[in-house]
Amino acid sequence: MKKIQKSIALIYGSDMGATEEVAATIYKKINIEELCVIDVYNISPSRFLDFNILILGVPTWYIGDLQSAWDEFFTEFQKINFKGKKVGFFGLGDQYGYPDNFVDGIGILAEVVKKNGGEIFGYWKNEGYDFNLSLGLAPNNMFYGLVIDEDNQYEQTEKRIDKWVEQIKKELKI
Ligand SMILES: Cc1cc2nc3c(=O)[nH]c(=O)nc-3n(C[C@H](O)[C@H](O)[C@H](O)COP(=O)(O)O)c2cc1C
Repeated sequence: MKKIQKSIALIYGSDMGATEEVAATIYKKINIEELCVIDVYNISPSRFLDFNILILGVPTWYIGDLQSAWDEFFTEFQKINFKGKKVGFFGLGDQYGYPDNFVDGIGILAEVVKKNGGEIFGYWKNEGYDFNLSLGLAPNNMFYGLVIDEDNQYEQTEKRIDKWVEQIKKELKI
């Protein structure tokens, strides 16, 4: 019988490269051998089944929409069974440019994961951001995951990543 191992994937999409860079930093800071990093542009739905922990990175684009590769994949994404999987999120957005749709992308993905049976980890306080509305806010009023604003608060990025990585390592016991 095949041995089931703890396997982790960081799956991200990025149009202009900011989310890709944040993904690379998170990868370095998590620093465990089992972690795979995959661009959603190159993924098939069945590949999701290989992992029991998923970290999904998405920037919000076009006023409350998913980034293009996530958008293309979204129909397939909605068919994935997340039962038994732990899923975390990180989202990039521009709080001053798009204050009514700030990091909506993480909320759009998180709703699917919840509906399809996944367990969400890595909730993040919404303090230190200035916006009106966000689908990225969970019912507990926390963000569904780490929120990074490279357009306006790039100086806080590294500190935020450090804190979140420490938090999820504890939550996941990795
Ligand atoms: C045309 C356009 C639309 C955007 N729409 C949103 C939005 O609705 N909400 C938001 O929070 N950020 C929005 N952003 C900001 C991007 O999410 C942000 O710049 C992000 O860092 C881009 O990530 P990427 O370089 O990985 O593609 C938008 C940016 C552009 C250029």
